[in-house]
Amino acid sequence: MKSTFDAQGEVLLVTGGANGIGAATARAFAERGGTAVVFDVAPAEDLDDRIEHHRVDVSDREAVLHAVDAVLDKHGRIDALVAGAAVQPRCDVVGMDAHTWRQTLAVNLDGVVWCCQAVLPDMIARRSGSIVVFSSGLAHAGRAQAAAYAASKGALISFAKSLAAEVADYRVRVNTVFPGVIDTPQFRAANPSGGEREHWAATTGIGSPEDVVGCLLFLLSDAATMTGSTLTRDRAFAQEAS
Ligand SMILES: NC(=O)c1ccc[n+]([C@@H]2O[C@H](COP(=O)([O-])OP(=O)(O)OC[C@H]3O[C@@H](n4cnc5c(N)ncnc54)[C@H](O)[C@@H]3O)[C@@H](O)[C@H]2O)c1
Repeated sequence: MKSTFDAQGEVLLVTGGANGIGAATARAFAERGGTAVVFDVAPAEDLDDRIEHHRVDVSDREAVLHAVDAVLDKHGRIDALVAGAAVQPRCDVVGMDAHTWRQTLAVNLDGVVWCCQAVLPDMIARRSGSIVVFSSGLAHAGRAQAAAYAASKGALISFAKSLAAEVADYRVRVNTVFPGVIDTPQFRAANPSGGEREHWAATTGIGSPEDVVGCLLFLLSDAATMTGSTLTRDRAFAQEAS
């Protein structure tokens, strides 16, 4: 069976979409005829002209509300939110300063909450919408020097399930993706080569951002009738040499 996701006439907001999985998702959505809008603190170096980029810090609630209003004024609707913006500092709990802890939760958790608050009134009014948030295998497994990131990703699972229950009557779906180990700027910064990267390569394998796109397009599409679910993308099958 062929996958033919059609995004014609739809508007997707991707936070953290200047890089990695978010950028791949925005590109895929635009390729399928949709309007992809990215909020990111980073410039749009890897994005082509089809994708609309706004410099927005998702931890700033007022900035998020203002930017979402601008998107709604311009496009009239936001059909879907892929909330990918995140940071992953490496530090021991004992030595962690307050700013690192607060900033990690402010971006990874608060940022998702502010974006959901901003897009939901329009989705609820239209009785249609799909929101996807990202958790991480570290939410369950944990890892030394990753407590703040792992805690934020664990909290997102609970947040998404609760929000899904709140908005189900309005036909708005909220689901969580575990993308697996994916080669992105964040992954490279958090897993330096010379040990960790090689560990992942030898165990789970390291996927590309494009490997996650199918899961996201599925969750955004009306083929995905579930809400409050978690979709885990584990290791991929080995690519055949061409
Ligand atoms: N790559 C992996 O192996 C992996 C594994 C599990 C979960 N995830 C999750 O997938 C999502 C996408 O991550 P990725 O690997 O593509 O990372 P990435 O670094 O490529 O993308 C994250 C983006 O978030 C942006 N960002 C950071 N702070 C921001 C802020 N305050 N406001 C707006 N944008 C901000 C960055 O500029 C960057 O473009 C993240 O939520 C990440 O935690 C990734």
